[in-house]
Amino acid sequence: MVVYVASSTAPVNIATLKYWGKRDKILNLPTNSSISVTLCQDDLRTLTTASTSDLFENDQLWLNGEIHSLTSERTIMCLNDLRMLRKRLEDNDPLLPKISTWKLHIVSENNFPTAAGLASSAAGFAALISSISKLYQLPQSASELSKIARKGSGSACRSLFGGYVAWEMGELDNGEDSKAVEVAPKSHWPEMKACILVVSDHKKDVPSTSGMQLTVNTSDLFQYRIKQVVPNRFIEMKNSIIEKNFEKFAELTIKDSNSFHSVCLDSYPPIFYLNDTSKMIIKLINYLNEKNGKLIAAYTFDAGPNAVIYYLEEHESEVLGLLYKIFNKVKIGWENYKNLNKLSNFDNIAE
Ligand code: DP6
Repeated sequence: MVVYVASSTAPVNIATLKYWGKRDKILNLPTNSSISVTLCQDDLRTLTTASTSDLFENDQLWLNGEIHSLTSERTIMCLNDLRMLRKRLEDNDPLLPKISTWKLHIVSENNFPTAAGLASSAAGFAALISSISKLYQLPQSASELSKIARKGSGSACRSLFGGYVAWEMGELDNGEDSKAVEVAPKSHWPEMKACILVVSDHKKDVPSTSGMQLTVNTSDLFQYRIKQVVPNRFIEMKNSIIEKNFEKFAELTIKDSNSFHSVCLDSYPPIFYLNDTSKMIIKLINYLNEKNGKLIAAYTFDAGPNAVIYYLEEHESEVLGLLYKIFNKVKIGWENYKNLNKLSNFDNIAE
């Protein structure tokens, strides 16, 4: 029995300029470009081992120890693309083992709770694509592979890079120019920190795929967002990263989270991802920034109530200290929580 094996990890990425809307559902082509920051591999990542053998009977996945079939349309598309690239190599080099037709066994494991409302599908598809491309010894660059990951889950294309990443929406109908590119490596701005506040670990009410379709089909505000807002914001956010301008980066990140949740609310029927705790976090970050007379922290929320807070290392004790103080008080009881949520000013409790 011959078995070939390769392993790869992929990190979670959190968008600071959100992808929300598809212009092509099959190829997963977005209605706007997006930007993300990749989280540290040691904290949140998927580790995937891909193996292939002439004796395997089916394509099979073990995700966190549970067996799954690999039959979703999106996964099949990704596997077909990777097998095609391997086949091309085999056709050009008769010495290469002919493994492109063999079945695959994939073992995948997250080092964070899969259902915690964190971007697990992004890391999952990125690790799947990169482990199989390693197994097949494909010469394609991360950007080229990102076009395959994109078909699995849009946001996954950005997880093939570390650091600061842009997903360029592209213009072509075949998606050949819709790919992730590096804006800057992590080493460019290592002072950037992210803190995740898990408000709820329940599965999302409205999954991203159906939520964004509803927005595309029903929200008037959405047209304004993709035509008048995002194109400039995309350029400005890339520049803020290149120039390491935290205040600008924070302002754009906050505004884009607000804009994304506004088009969700403008969908019909409306989609609510933020809950009262999320709104309290928004107020808290605004309070912190106002108190400092400058932006030292930025919040962003994906398709769920959990917050990601970006800040620079020099402000860590201030940002985390306040969050700790407030949430420690919240733990005291539900009555306090309700009162906290009504506050527009946190001075009394922050002392
Ligand atoms: C709010 O990438 O999960 O996190 O392409 O349908 O799989 P599909 O959607 P997905 O959507 C992510 C939406 C978002 C914003 C973002 O990550 O850019």
